[in-house]
Amino acid sequence: MFHTEICDLLGIRYPILQGAMQGAGGPDLVAATSEAGGLGILPTFGGTEEALYGDIEAARKLTDKPVAVNITPMGRAFTESRAKICVEMEVPIVTTGRADPGEAAVGTMKDAGIIVIPVIPTVEHALRVQAEGVDAVIASGNEAGGHVGGVATLPLVPQVVDALDIPVLAAGGIGDGRGFLAMLALGAVGVQLGTVLVATKEAAVNEWYRNAVLGMSATDTIVSAVLTGATVRCIATPEIRAYEDARMSGASKEELKRLRQIARQNYGHSDKTDKGKRDQGTAGQVAGMITEIKSTAQIIEEMIQDAAALSADLAALARASAIAAE
Ligand SMILES: Cc1cc2nc3c(=O)[nH]c(=O)nc-3n(C[C@H](O)[C@H](O)[C@H](O)COP(=O)(O)O)c2cc1C
Repeated sequence: MFHTEICDLLGIRYPILQGAMQGAGGPDLVAATSEAGGLGILPTFGGTEEALYGDIEAARKLTDKPVAVNITPMGRAFTESRAKICVEMEVPIVTTGRADPGEAAVGTMKDAGIIVIPVIPTVEHALRVQAEGVDAVIASGNEAGGHVGGVATLPLVPQVVDALDIPVLAAGGIGDGRGFLAMLALGAVGVQLGTVLVATKEAAVNEWYRNAVLGMSATDTIVSAVLTGATVRCIATPEIRAYEDARMSGASKEELKRLRQIARQNYGHSDKTDKGKRDQGTAGQVAGMITEIKSTAQIIEEMIQDAAALSADLAALARASAIAAE
């Protein structure tokens, strides 16, 4: 069902990618996604080379389905070293996040036969990576969790689809079968999910994070550069709101530095063992739709089944409208 060209390109059953999630999506989530028919993607956002080798091996022990890697470009040396590891480990698919991976890294991976799919926030960025020779792009809107640009998913996806010759996937704000089907209607050949997979049994998050996502409404996120230096949509905790309020009211450099240190204190420590320590995390506006913890397989299966039912309903509505108009 919903077999698109991206399923053939990536060797997956459903056109659903699990977006890489530093601090939330380790080998368990990645393997669960690939086992459920989607594509699991490991993050490498500032992690060590050893961590990447270890994560690839751990995920491969849990599934024999394709496992991809995401590289968040953090300078040329970082990007190229992680690209070389992907070549050495025969990773079949690499996505990139936040910034342009650059021609050299794309070339290294393409020469080795790796399928390269950057996440892009604008048409201009999409055209640039298309010229670098990538295989597809993921157009990610401003409502997404993690690093974001300024354009929302609904206007971004069709503009990227119209501008490019390669397949386009959609990310940002997709929470269920309705969002999935809407993205296909916009011309996307598949979707990438992030925030909804934080609320799964397989996500590598602590109780604070899981409960925060469960309790959020759509207005409980904020875009701020305080956590990583680039614009990230994250959970609007009191510490991040305090930093942003101070920034907007023209606080001094020293005051902003003090508030930044407070906001960053517990960011990036999330794993299943840190027993509620973390109190900062990224999440998108779709968090407002999350009401219970599910398994990754359940989320993917329900998304496909609900989209199929909705698509049948829409077709019936169109038929009935045509008859009524005759
Ligand atoms: C907790 C979290 C961590 C993320 N980390 C990364 C990352 O390391 N690299 C990346 O390219 N995208 C990252 N993202 C973005 C996701 O891969 C995905 O594109 C995005 O979450 C989709 O939007 P949604 O959250 O509305 O579903 C992250 C998102 C979240 C929620």
